[in-house]
Formats: sequence, structure tokens, C-alpha cells
Amino acid sequence: MNPVELIIRKRDGGELTSAEMKQFINDYINGDIDSSQMTALLMAIYFKGMTKSETRDLTEVYIDSGSRITFPADMPTVDKHSTGGVGDKISLMLAPIVAACGIPVPMISGRGLGHTGGTLDKLEAIPGFRTDFSQQEFMQFVNTSGLAIISQNEKLVPADRLIYALRDTTGTVESLPLITASIMGKKIAEGARNLVIDLKVGSGAFMTSLQRARQLGELLASTGEGFGQKVKVVYTNMNSPLGYYCGNALETREAIDYLKGEAAPDIDILTRRLAAEMLLLSGAFPDLNSASEKVDKVIKDGSALHKFAEMIQQQKGDVRVIDDPAIMPNAPCDLPVTASSSGWIKAIESRQIGYALVSIGAGRKTLNAKLDMAAGAWLPYKIGSKITAGELLGKVYCQNKTAGEAAVNRIKNAYEISAEKIEDQKLILLP
Ligand code: URA
Repeated sequence: MNPVELIIRKRDGGELTSAEMKQFINDYINGDIDSSQMTALLMAIYFKGMTKSETRDLTEVYIDSGSRITFPADMPTVDKHSTGGVGDKISLMLAPIVAACGIPVPMISGRGLGHTGGTLDKLEAIPGFRTDFSQQEFMQFVNTSGLAIISQNEKLVPADRLIYALRDTTGTVESLPLITASIMGKKIAEGARNLVIDLKVGSGAFMTSLQRARQLGELLASTGEGFGQKVKVVYTNMNSPLGYYCGNALETREAIDYLKGEAAPDIDILTRRLAAEMLLLSGAFPDLNSASEKVDKVIKDGSALHKFAEMIQQQKGDVRVIDDPAIMPNAPCDLPVTASSSGWIKAIESRQIGYALVSIGAGRKTLNAKLDMAAGAWLPYKIGSKITAGELLGKVYCQNKTAGEAAVNRIKNAYEISAEKIEDQKLILLP
């Protein structure tokens, strides 16, 4: 195989065979093709796209680059994937809720990406909590407690680990076939038989229009189904930051409070719906109503909170966090964000809020940057909320006052306030 020929064929809109993609990617992993040629191919895919069957083949090449986990055939494993947002801590509550309902959740999760937060980073705000377990340990956790949330390791879809890092620095992230191979490669290799995708749409998401989100959703679902996985896509609104808090320790605290019964309305709606969809997809419940009743029960009787504590213990975290969230890092400064005018919140540039949080250390500016687990913000208002000039719109929690003030300004400018009444937005867009 001549890599240049493949690059040129894709650049000119042609198709690649499975064998060609396999060789190209394996040669890249082994160092026989360098990152300039890999980047050229990624950019050609970015501009020319791929057919459905090429996308499926690319996903298979990704999966086959490492090992694949399989759970017993009678184990109805289910996972959820969110395409990423601001304040999206739903997995932290969802995984223990679903596991407490008796359905195993093997979750290989991600870190913050661009302006979005990551589940692993949030969990690692708990002192001692580890996500770097082997596949054997992962399987053992799922078999014994019914859940585990760990990071991708060098054995699981190594092609994605290497290519993802390259995409992140070469402007080739937002390509539907590349996103599909990356997400579905991991979600199939981790052994989840059923998958609910929370496809986020709006100013804080990677997909800003429902039309493009649907293209991605359809490609993700058809690819998963091609590998025998049952996939359900739920399209949700990501225009307002989710919940009341953003930032790693703050969101983990909010998740614990949720499981104790203190729920912000938006995360309550999303968590309950996604949990019920997961239970339904697993085949253990006949309809959404009965699944929702079970979800309600495990939240109210404390068994979901108990499951969360069990996961913390199994993953070597300090379980005292459940009763005393203050053992997680706390920020020395909190700075007010005030409303510049009176009226109703018409729009929120949530991506700008995400970038403001990255600037104070809640996310990464470079691949190996160290996070400030305490950094974040309290932002309780949503599109449609009424606010008065000078009133607190939120607070920024940070180490450094100068960086914090810059984040305050960026967040303040992210809110558009209208003198006319604005309606609340629908949270679940489809179905
Ligand atoms: N999440 C992933 O895991 N991969 C992508 O390409 C985008 C989001």
C-alpha cells in the first residue's frame, strides 16, 4: 500500500476499503506512517466525508486495534454516552441509579475536551479516586458491584487514543465519520450491549444545530446496530449550563446532593429520562413508565446513593465524601458575576462559559495541563429566567483573583438579557 495514493483518493472524493484503512492505521500506530500523512488523511476525510459502510469499516479497524471486552451473553449491560456539554454531570448520577436498578453499567468515560467537562475529571476530584484500572479489574468491578467508570487504557481502542490526540491539535475533530468511529469504537469495545446516546445540541455543545445533530445521531445508531448493539439517541438542549454548578469538585458535590434528594430541575429531568431509557433498552422493563417508577424508587430509598458510595470505595476513593463533600478541594476566592441589565435571559453562549472555566483551570489548555479541581462557577439561571440589573447572576470559584476577574467578565458577556419576556426552553428536543 502506498499511503500517498490513499490520501489522494480520499482527497478526490473516492472510497477506501477496509483493508486499506486497516493497514494505514496500523502503520500509523507502529510508527511506519508519520503524523503528517495521518493528518493529511484525516483532513481529507474531514472535507470529503465517508460513506456509511466506510464509517462502519473504520469503526471496526478502531476496535480491532486493541482488545474487546465481552460480558456473559445473559448480562444486559447498558451504557450512556454524552456528546459533551457545560455542567454535564449526568453520568455521575445515572450510572449508580441504573446499577441500583439491577442493570450492569460498564462505562469507559472521557476527560474534558475543548470547552466541555469530562466525567473522569469530575470523579477524580474525590480524594484517592482512580480511573486507571486494567480490563480484568474493570470486568471484576462490573461483575461484583454492577458498575465501573474507568478511562480508556492502552489496550482499549489504541487507534482512537493516538488519532484523537492528533485530531484535537489539527482541526479535524468535527467530522461525523471520525466522531462516530471514535465514540462507537470505544462503546462497542467496552462490552455494552445497549447504549443510550445523549446527543447535546446548542451553544454549549459540539453540535449547534438539530439538523447536524440528527445526522450524527443516525450515523452513531446505524454504526452501533451494525455491530449488534442496541442504540437509542435522545437529543437534548445544551443552550444553558446544566444544573447549578460547573467545575469538577463542584459538580461531583452537586451529583452527591442529587442522590441525597436535592435536585436542580433540569438535571432531574435529564437524569430520570436517560435512566429510564437505559432500563428500557436493557429489556428489563416493558415501558418507560415502569422504568421511571423504578428510577424514582432507587433515588428515594437511598440505594442509588449507596451504589455511588460502593463505586467510590471500589475505585479507591475516600468514601467520606458522601457525608462530607468539603474533603474535596475548595477554592480560596469566590467572585460575584452580576447582571448588567434587567429582564429575561434570552441566550447564553455556554461555549464561552466553558472556555472561561478552562481559563481558571477547570479544564485543560494543553494535553497534559494539571487541573484545578476546585475551580468552577455557580450559575443557577437558565434561558427564560428573570433577572434584575446588579443582581447576582452567578459566582466564579478560583485560586487567582486576576484570572478569576477575567473569567467573570467572559461569563457576564455570555448572557444576553432581553426586556421582553422569554419562555423557558424545552430540555428534551427529541423524541
Ligand atoms: N468524543 C469522543 O470520544 N470522540 C470524538 O471524536 C468526539 C467526542
